[in-house]
Amino acid sequence: MADPTKIESVLKEERIVYPPQEGRDEAYISSKFDYEEIYRYSLNDPDGFWSERAKELITWFKLWDRTCYWDFHKPEIRWFEGGKLNACYNCVDRHLTDETRNKAAIIWQGEPDEEVKVYTYEMLHREVCRFANVLKKLGIKKGDRVSIYLPMIPELPIVMLACARIGAIHSVVFGGFSAESLKTRIQDCEAKLLITADGYWRSGRKIQAKKNADEALKDCPTVEKCIVVKRLGLDINWVEGRDIWYHEAINAEDISDWCECEEMDAEDVLFILYTSGSTGKPKGVFHTTGGYLVYVAHTLQWVFDLKPEDIFWCTADIGWITGHSYIVYGPLSLAATQIMYEGVPTYPHPGRFWELCQKFKVNLFYTAPTVIRALMRAGDEWPHKYDLSSLRVLGSVGEPINPEAWWWYYEHVGQRRCPIVDTWWQTETGGFLISPLPYAIPQKPGSATLPLPGVEPVILKDDGTPADVNEGGHLCMKRAWPGMLRGVWGDPQRFKDVYFSRFPGYYYTGDGARRDEDGYFWIMGRLDDVINVSGHRLGTMELESALVAHPAVAEAAVIGYPHEIKGEAIYAFVILKEGYEPSEELRQELKQHMRKVIGPIATPDYIQFVSGLPKTRSGKIMRRILRKIVAGQYEDLGDTSTLADPSVIDELIKGREELM
Ligand code: WT7
Repeated sequence: MADPTKIESVLKEERIVYPPQEGRDEAYISSKFDYEEIYRYSLNDPDGFWSERAKELITWFKLWDRTCYWDFHKPEIRWFEGGKLNACYNCVDRHLTDETRNKAAIIWQGEPDEEVKVYTYEMLHREVCRFANVLKKLGIKKGDRVSIYLPMIPELPIVMLACARIGAIHSVVFGGFSAESLKTRIQDCEAKLLITADGYWRSGRKIQAKKNADEALKDCPTVEKCIVVKRLGLDINWVEGRDIWYHEAINAEDISDWCECEEMDAEDVLFILYTSGSTGKPKGVFHTTGGYLVYVAHTLQWVFDLKPEDIFWCTADIGWITGHSYIVYGPLSLAATQIMYEGVPTYPHPGRFWELCQKFKVNLFYTAPTVIRALMRAGDEWPHKYDLSSLRVLGSVGEPINPEAWWWYYEHVGQRRCPIVDTWWQTETGGFLISPLPYAIPQKPGSATLPLPGVEPVILKDDGTPADVNEGGHLCMKRAWPGMLRGVWGDPQRFKDVYFSRFPGYYYTGDGARRDEDGYFWIMGRLDDVINVSGHRLGTMELESALVAHPAVAEAAVIGYPHEIKGEAIYAFVILKEGYEPSEELRQELKQHMRKVIGPIATPDYIQFVSGLPKTRSGKIMRRILRKIVAGQYEDLGDTSTLADPSVIDELIKGREELM
């Protein structure tokens, strides 16, 4: 584990950008003074603060008996205990009023420009009810798990909401993951059903999805049926008796337009989402219904200052938590109108996102630093080609945004008019924890600024004592918030070990951070063995075990290193087995292998073949040394006296020089 106090923040930025005057009078939170007052209240009277927000934002079938109970030592966390609600009801049914039933809920843009579909809340309701009836007909019941492996098409939010409607637990697996990754995720949660598509568009190419699903299902005995959405009309393999077309199922004569909402307990599980940790196996983080829903609605409304008339666009994939919280549950619970896009930022040209902002007159736009850096590289002329005057608030998520990218976003996209909300959060947190409020908090480019109401972050040193001002340390949370994870599926011990053991009594985020003299948080990245590639988490252990699964590989060590566009990139040291020789061909083969085993995001940028790794006498790989070598800081390797064989260093340096 890296020493947090030794990490230099690369983010040195002195300038402050104040919230705009325009829009301030109408904002939910319109001054620093108001923020401070609300923040104080939320910590002094959390029950009062959260009950008010929960009643204001969410419709409950029955109110709760106790607002919150938590104990990080056990750990046990419960919010709105005894409360009854349904997430789908809150996202759809309650919006069927004269005012909003004909409002666009989802404006879907396919990758081909001519493909646009609009779902009003009324239309969404019909489709969700019908699919919920399909689920029931297949015998899916409350508490059953349904795995979903779909691209960014409207059927994805529809089937998620249908699951929520009948109380089934969905587990969405990102469409870019391999058959192998899909398989382990289905097996871990013992899903009864898989929902997938024949394929989808990606940068003008037709991608197969069903093929991966078939491959995964070979080894998933719990899955009884597989529902397939016809997106492209590809010629696909079909398993009689198991596979069912989505369009046939939903249009069947015995499927009605109405399906009752299951009354769920606030603490009933809503979904499972797998995320990488510092050990080999991904964790099934699960969230529950009441607290999660309150939290995503609350944070979206205040952090983006989302008003009923706004058009919101979050460019994330629904396969990640960002899409769960801020495409599905957040915007829909607030009866917002949003854009959902199937394509990528740079196809057919690097102005695609700006073109869509113009086309749909987007007001609130939310994307990731890796996207901003890639589009920045393409040139200032791209955003300047389009009319971006509808934009009002810009957001960023996934990794620290470097000041250069921040300023480019601010000047060329927001035209110095739009505040930027740099939202810090995690799969585990459910929603934003640290972020500016756009009309209240002065922004410092590169800082996620201040904690949101009800959130109490602390920075702890290795010994558990609080860090001083500007001193780096471990970012932890001192109290529970409604949207936090409730566990790791099937593994309560891991839940405790990973999040509540490093510093007893605190929630451990795994991130390093410092707090400056104004109380602003500067996130310095992960301190555990997690690499953040383009805003996606990959565990080094997970990557290493995938590498050694290849017959040629004896041992592997994987390091993240700074990358101009991706934030971090993957550098792999590989020891080959006896009988295998290093070659360019084998290097390419290993890259393909990684794409296949985990997915394209796991492709190493560099693979260095080595004969040995720097290990301690007890056999532990000294990653600190590998990190320095990859960074080219050979003079600064630190103490190498504990190495079992110090002579490996020269070979490692030589190989690295040849490669980069
Ligand atoms: C990790 C969580 C939350 C949705 C996307 C990723 C990093 C996230 C920021 C930010 C600095 C950030 C952290 C965090 N991260 N947002 N605004 N500034 N770092 O979700 O896959 O669970 O990853 O992403 O390191 O721990 P995730």
